[in-house]
Amino acid sequence: MARALVLGGNGDIGKAIANQLRLDGFETIAVGRNDFNLNSSDQIKDYFSKNGANFDIIVHSAGMNHPKLFEELSDEEINQSLDINLRSFLQIVRICLPHLKNSKHGRVVVISSLYGFFARRGRLPYVMAKHALNGAVKTLAIELASSNVLVNSVSPGYIETKMTYANNSEEVIKKFISGIPLSRLGKPQDIADTVSFLCSEKNKYITGQDIVVDGGFSVGGFQ
Ligand SMILES: NC(=O)c1ccc[n+]([C@@H]2O[C@H](COP(=O)([O-])OP(=O)(O)OC[C@H]3O[C@@H](n4cnc5c(N)ncnc54)[C@H](OP(=O)(O)O)[C@@H]3O)[C@@H](O)[C@H]2O)c1
Repeated sequence: MARALVLGGNGDIGKAIANQLRLDGFETIAVGRNDFNLNSSDQIKDYFSKNGANFDIIVHSAGMNHPKLFEELSDEEINQSLDINLRSFLQIVRICLPHLKNSKHGRVVVISSLYGFFARRGRLPYVMAKHALNGAVKTLAIELASSNVLVNSVSPGYIETKMTYANNSEEVIKKFISGIPLSRLGKPQDIADTVSFLCSEKNKYITGQDIVVDGGFSVGGFQ
């Protein structure tokens, strides 16, 4: 049975992804901050040296945001955001590479964001990390294609999660909804279903892509 690892597996989106991958028949390990801190490359190294790195599917659904203007951000906050959103993804894929490259079902999916191609005032580290992730996905897809490891990202729009409610006022959320052609926030399951397809046997030919799951916001939300 193929084995899946979900990072950020206690988060709203990560939990839905891990549940769905289990329903899809993968042996799924969901890890969160209690297992190791993605800020710490040593803790990441320790976790895999103790628990092994034989995963066929890696889904990175951890993320964090410091909603502050650039001039108020410390270097430490910028680095922390880059560590959790970006560097940890690269480190974990690198650790799992030997098994992934020999797997008959190698799949990597990272949860990116509309802020991987748009920007927003007060979100510099998050926007920067998500833009970089999209470049990493394209490059990894090319480099790992000869081992038949498919690498993609999923970019949620505005999803009904703790993160959305923590980082936006009720008024701002109402404004988002008014710009979403499907007239609702997304649900974590909308993201899980997309990840499930990308990780399934049905996906044999999609790699290096960013799949946007946003109820049409990015194509119609600015009207
Ligand atoms: N919510 C949205 O509308 C939305 C939109 C676009 C993109 N996204 C992306 O979707 C992904 C999941 O977000 P979510 O909405 O499900 O948010 P969430 O519920 O806050 O989940 C974020 C996850 O990241 C983990 N995490 C944060 N800092 C960590 C650290 N230092 N070490 C280890 N784990 C850490 C948290 O672990 P613990 O639970 O163990 O603390 C949590 O499970 C993120 O990449 C986010 O950027 C979300």
